[in-house]
Amino acid sequence: MKLAIFGCGKIANRIAASCKLTDNIELVGFGSKDPAKAEEYARKYGCPDFGDYDHFLNSDIDAVYIANYNAGHEALIRRCLEHHKNVICEKPMLFSEKQVNEAFDLAQENGVLLMEALKSVFLPLNLKIKKMIEDKAIGDITDVYAAFMRGGDHPADHWINDPETGGAFMDLGSYCVGTLNFLTGIRPKLIKLESDRTKETAETSAEALLDYDGIKGRVCVSNSKDGDMTLIISGTKGYIRADDFWKSGSGYYEVDGKRYEIAEELISDFYYELKHFADLVDNGIKESPVMDRMASLDILHITAKIKE
Ligand SMILES: NC(=O)c1ccc[n+]([C@@H]2O[C@H](COP(=O)([O-])OP(=O)(O)OC[C@H]3O[C@@H](n4cnc5c(N)ncnc54)[C@H](OP(=O)(O)O)[C@@H]3O)[C@@H](O)[C@H]2O)c1
Repeated sequence: MKLAIFGCGKIANRIAASCKLTDNIELVGFGSKDPAKAEEYARKYGCPDFGDYDHFLNSDIDAVYIANYNAGHEALIRRCLEHHKNVICEKPMLFSEKQVNEAFDLAQENGVLLMEALKSVFLPLNLKIKKMIEDKAIGDITDVYAAFMRGGDHPADHWINDPETGGAFMDLGSYCVGTLNFLTGIRPKLIKLESDRTKETAETSAEALLDYDGIKGRVCVSNSKDGDMTLIISGTKGYIRADDFWKSGSGYYEVDGKRYEIAEELISDFYYELKHFADLVDNGIKESPVMDRMASLDILHITAKIKE
């Protein structure tokens, strides 16, 4: 699969490094609004091609990894799909249920795959935790908790502070809600949501209480304060805990007061979502069985409530 990365910013570096580890991805180059930046990235990662977005949209590449800022996702997704490119787009992919439905409809019309890049749900660690939940390793689940609290130094005009497409809940909450949705297999209801959001400014911290069909859910996020970065699944017989659950290979669980380590393979945090996407494209499959339309809608169904 020939793939180009669009958007030459911070995360593009880590995606590129993981593409190099994926046997069925040929990273042909980088697209950017600034072709000089695309050239710099192409040289850094030994890629043969670079240019503006149109350069690649009119080429024979199979797929695009959209890694530009949030407010630029929607327009770029549309352009890629209209040019019959398969698309994997960074989280949070889109910002309303209407946008998600329109984008997946467009992918269908053009016969290509669209997938939100929520890397946590492809990690062997979280596949293992999901299996443990299904096997009732800690009994019946009673509570689920995910926190992503990481202080940042974003200037007020940084895109992450855009009230429409930024904010800690939309950004970091997508990992927390998306991972809990994946692990439980349940679409949650929002019970309570508190944040420091104002009419003019996006939230820098938020806390949500969720109901997963009787299982209590709690999500804490912050992009202004350092704090907890943990996933905890509690059951009637014990609990499972994993730190840095969106990029980690390890955790542990306790049952009857005894602690057991969980250690899963971790080639890189981006490797597993990339491999999943590339395998789907290779096999002509047009929707991911993991991050499909419904999975993206189920995340937004909670995270977009911050804007109401
Ligand atoms: N999966 C993960 O672990 C992870 C981690 C962090 C971020 N992300 C997501 O990845 C995406 C990119 O994040 P990043 O931290 O790499 O972003 P970034 O470095 O700030 O910017 C990435 C690119 O977005 C475009 N851009 C940035 N600010 C812009 C502005 N004000 N106006 C117009 N274009 C702008 C530029 O694209 P051009 O090169 O085309 O000019 C830039 O190279 C976001 O959706 C973010 O949520 C994912």
